Amino acid sequence: MTDGKPARDILNLVQPHLLEMPGYEPVEPVDVMARRLGLPEDQILKLDGNENPFGPSPRVLEALARFRYYHIYPDPAQRRVRQAVGQYVGVDPEQIMLGSGSDELLGLAAQLFLSPGDAVVNVPPTFGMYDFIGRVHGARLVEVPRREDFEIDMIALESALARGAKLLYLASPNNPTGNALSADDLDRLLAYDVAVVVDEAYAEFAGHSFVNLIDQHDNLIVVRTFSKWAGLAGLRAGYAVLPKPLVPTIWSIKVPYNVSVASEEAVLASLEDAAALRKNVALIVEERARMTEALNALGWMRPYPSRANFILCEVKRMPARQVRDELRTRGILVRYFDSAGLHNCIRISVGKPQDTDRVIEALAAIGEGVRA
Ligand SMILES: Cc1ncc(COP(=O)(O)O)c(C=O)c1O
Repeated sequence: MTDGKPARDILNLVQPHLLEMPGYEPVEPVDVMARRLGLPEDQILKLDGNENPFGPSPRVLEALARFRYYHIYPDPAQRRVRQAVGQYVGVDPEQIMLGSGSDELLGLAAQLFLSPGDAVVNVPPTFGMYDFIGRVHGARLVEVPRREDFEIDMIALESALARGAKLLYLASPNNPTGNALSADDLDRLLAYDVAVVVDEAYAEFAGHSFVNLIDQHDNLIVVRTFSKWAGLAGLRAGYAVLPKPLVPTIWSIKVPYNVSVASEEAVLASLEDAAALRKNVALIVEERARMTEALNALGWMRPYPSRANFILCEVKRMPARQVRDELRTRGILVRYFDSAGLHNCIRISVGKPQDTDRVIEALAAIGEGVRA
C-alpha cells in the first residue's frame, strides 16, 4: 500500500505472452528515411516495401475528390465493394469480405481459429506477419523451413499437419522468396484437418490464383490485396475469399466499420480502371525480367526467379548489410535479410525502368568500390 492505495503494476494485468512479443519490424516511410539519411525526399528511391511506383489509377483520385460522404460511416455490410470484388475474382459476393489491408484479414483468420496454445504452422522464410499474428494470439508456432530452393518441404509439412494444427499460412507468390505454391502441393495440404490461408498479395504479378478452388474446399481461405497491383498500399484495402460455411461466423467477429469510405471508393474506381492497372502490372513484370538479367550480369548478385514485384538476391563476396547500407547512402532503400534459410540476401522491389537503371548503376559502383 502507498498513500492508502494498493501497490499495483499494470503490466501484471497484461497477457504474459504479449510482454515477450518482439514486435513487427515494418519499413519506414519516405519522410522519416529522408530525414535520417539527410537527403531530400525526392531523392529517395523506395524499393523496400513492394509498393507500386505507378501509384493508383487517376480515377481513384477523381473519385476521392468527388466523394461527398466522408462524415458518414461506411456500409458495415460492404455491399457495393463486395459486389465489385466478387465480379473481379469471379465468386459470389457473399464469399467476399474486405479488410483494412489484407493484414487485417490474416489476423481475422487467426481470431477465428486460434485459441492460446493451438498450433499455427509457418513455412519460413516467408512474410513476417504470420509469425507475428501467431504470437499475438498466444499460439504454438510450428515452423517447417523451406528447402534450399525455397520450395515447401512437403514431407515435413505433411507430418506437422498430421500431428494436428489449426491454421497454416502460405503465401503464393511467397514474400520474400518470390516463388509460387504448386497446385499439387496445395491439393495435398487441403486434405488435412487444418484451415489453410493462401495469401495472394502478389497474384496479379504471377498471373495465377487459387480462388477457383474455394468452392471445393471448406478449409481454404484466399486473401488478396489492392496494395500491390492497384497501388493502394497507403489506403489499406484487402479482401478475403471465403468458403461458404465460414461466412456467418467471420462476419459476426468483424468490427463494423473496418474499411473506410475512402478505401471503398478507391477499390471501386480501381476495378473500373482494371485494364489500365493491368498494363502497369505488365510493365512491372517486364521490368522484373530486365532487372533479373542486369543483376545476374553484375556477377556478384544471385537473383532468385520471382513471380512477384520484387527480386530476392543472394549477395556474393560482400556482406548484404553493407550493400543495403551503401545503397541507403545513395538514397536507395532495399530490404536486407540474414536469417535461418536466408543468408546474406537483399530484396529489391521492382519499379519503373528508371528505378532499375538507378539501382543497377549504384550496385555497379558499389561492386567497383569493393574490387578496388
Ligand atoms: C505476402 C504478403 N501478404 C500481405 C501483405 C500485406 O498487404 P496489405 O497491404 O494488403 O496489408 C504483404 C505486404 O507486403 C505481403 O508481402
